[in-house]
Amino acid sequence: MKRLAGKAALVTGAGRGIGAAIALAFAREGASVVLAELDIDTAQQTAAHIKAQTGARVLAVRTDVTQSASVQQAVSEAEQAFGAVDVLVNNAGINVFCDPLTMTDDDWRRCFAVDLDGVWNGCRAVLPGMVERGTGSIVNIASTHAFKIIPGCFPYPVAKHGVIGLTRALGIEYAPRNVRVNAIAPGYIETQLTHDWWNEQPDPAAAQQATLDLQPMKRIGRPEEVAMTAVFLASDEAPFINASCITVDGGRSALYHD
Ligand SMILES: NC(=O)c1ccc[n+]([C@@H]2O[C@H](COP(=O)([O-])OP(=O)(O)OC[C@H]3O[C@@H](n4cnc5c(N)ncnc54)[C@H](O)[C@@H]3O)[C@@H](O)[C@H]2O)c1
Repeated sequence: MKRLAGKAALVTGAGRGIGAAIALAFAREGASVVLAELDIDTAQQTAAHIKAQTGARVLAVRTDVTQSASVQQAVSEAEQAFGAVDVLVNNAGINVFCDPLTMTDDDWRRCFAVDLDGVWNGCRAVLPGMVERGTGSIVNIASTHAFKIIPGCFPYPVAKHGVIGLTRALGIEYAPRNVRVNAIAPGYIETQLTHDWWNEQPDPAAAQQATLDLQPMKRIGRPEEVAMTAVFLASDEAPFINASCITVDGGRSALYHD
């Protein structure tokens, strides 16, 4: 029996990277999957790929997680296509790495709009149905920045700390209705986001090597490795895991010295 058989899942930011890997892993495990993504072209390509690979029911819906109406619309389309949404993964996120005192108001706002408001917009869109049905699993993609700070990366970690707070608050609020809300905190994962960050550094190759040197396992993570954890949290294998965060970073955040 597939681990998500019969479930409908919605994954935000699923056109590429970690979100795409989660959508593929969910489809492999028997879920019907909605890719709720700002870049609809990428989402449609990824949806076609997942369909071809798995034979699952897959739908791409243009969604801007910063707009609550857009997320509500995506959930409505998901419900029309596949029935009630059993699993939500709030994955869409952006890096906003600034010096606090030279950061603009716009930097602050766009970071929180995607990285924290976006997560709340997703939760708010699915929670009424989950609470009513007495079942549901929400997985929020946080980051090791949710409990570790790198100077010059402001205000991304502030928003990611907020994602953990939101996860814990909603997990407790709706536990009596059997709705579980958990987070995953990935460390460095091999995605376009990470390559973009390396490419912005004065010496991209040196920046990449420096990142690898910091890793206890001497490599960074793969999107599939985050996806495996998302499958577990979304599935019925984690019925008593709630308001928690699972770190997927190869041990990096446990390391005291660089
Ligand atoms: N890559 C890493 O090393 C890493 C580490 C820790 C946490 N994370 C988190 O994992 C998540 C995914 O990261 P990734 O590396 O796959 O990033 P990515 O940039 O490769 O993919 C993010 C996707 O989100 C989409 N998106 C951006 N804004 C959106 C919006 N407003 N509405 C809907 N979709 C939107 C993008 O179009 C893109 O397809 C993010 O929340 C990120 O903060 C990533």
